Amino acid sequence: MPKISVIGAGNVGATLAQRLYEKDLADVVMFDIVEGLPQGKALDIFQASSYYPTDYTIKGTNDYADTAASDVVLVTAGAARKPGMTRDELLAINASIVRGVVSEVVKHSPDCILIIISNPVDAMVVLAQQVSGFANERIMGLSGALDGARLASFIAMKLSIPAAKIEPCVIGEHGENMVVIPRLTRIDGKPLTDIMDQDQCQALCQRTIKGGAEIVSFLKTSSAFYAPSAAVARMAEAVIKDENLNICAVAFLNGQYGIKNVACGVPVVINKKGIAKIVEYQLTDSELEALRASAQAVKDTVSKIN
Ligand code: APR
Repeated sequence: MPKISVIGAGNVGATLAQRLYEKDLADVVMFDIVEGLPQGKALDIFQASSYYPTDYTIKGTNDYADTAASDVVLVTAGAARKPGMTRDELLAINASIVRGVVSEVVKHSPDCILIIISNPVDAMVVLAQQVSGFANERIMGLSGALDGARLASFIAMKLSIPAAKIEPCVIGEHGENMVVIPRLTRIDGKPLTDIMDQDQCQALCQRTIKGGAEIVSFLKTSSAFYAPSAAVARMAEAVIKDENLNICAVAFLNGQYGIKNVACGVPVVINKKGIAKIVEYQLTDSELEALRASAQAVKDTVSKIN
């Protein structure tokens, strides 16, 4: 039986566990340090299984031993961004949480694929790689799958078409230095730049870059979790089903796009090996410059941790 563990049973973690369980994909284990929280939420999710039938199990726990031999481990543990807080301000808190979590996870699931969600995610992927010692392809992070879905939703609203028809391209850092590329965003195979003028494209890019902050400004005391959990559930599904899914995600770069020794969002192919491939698009000079600046911003963040 495939097994997926979700670390952190907060807004993102619990919604993610629910989505995974309802996708009928694998046994799901939800871990949190708060006693009772993962147990209560797992029991609640299980009690919905009359309506979402599955042969898999779901368990909440405060003991890492229950996560043993997971195929995929999804790390959502950490503090959420509060209004006015930048992703970088979360750095010190989340770096210490992610360091502790990853060292426990890899003891119990040495062969897993690790997907990091905790922010700032690009730097957390680098940290997770350092702590785990895993090969680069076995670690990835949630960025473009979410940011691209946000861009698709804004395009869908503007054009009154289903978001699922849109193939978005959002790379770079999951934050202020995100690189949204309308030229490579396609609707029925047509570039967005053929459908909208430059000002309209720019407005959508800006809204995408600020997509997380827009949700925080509504919710006030928490950050987004429905779209993040949907995007990461899709990534985990691609690993479990060995799909060769084309999507954008945080991956460790080793010379691709002229970038080395850091992780940031790029187009990838996901299968049971994790990042099966990093896809190298022909970028324009200005797109490439923006991507490299984004990678440098991640390096700067990582240097603040170390
Ligand atoms: N080990 C396990 N769980 C932990 C740890 C730890 N060391 N430290 C904190 N947690 C748990 C908390 O107890 C809480 O249940 O992580 C959970 C975080 O949940 P929320 O506060 O609801 O945050 P959430 O909105 O889920 O966001 C989690 O995902 O999208 C990112 O920026 C977001 O970094 C944040 C993360």
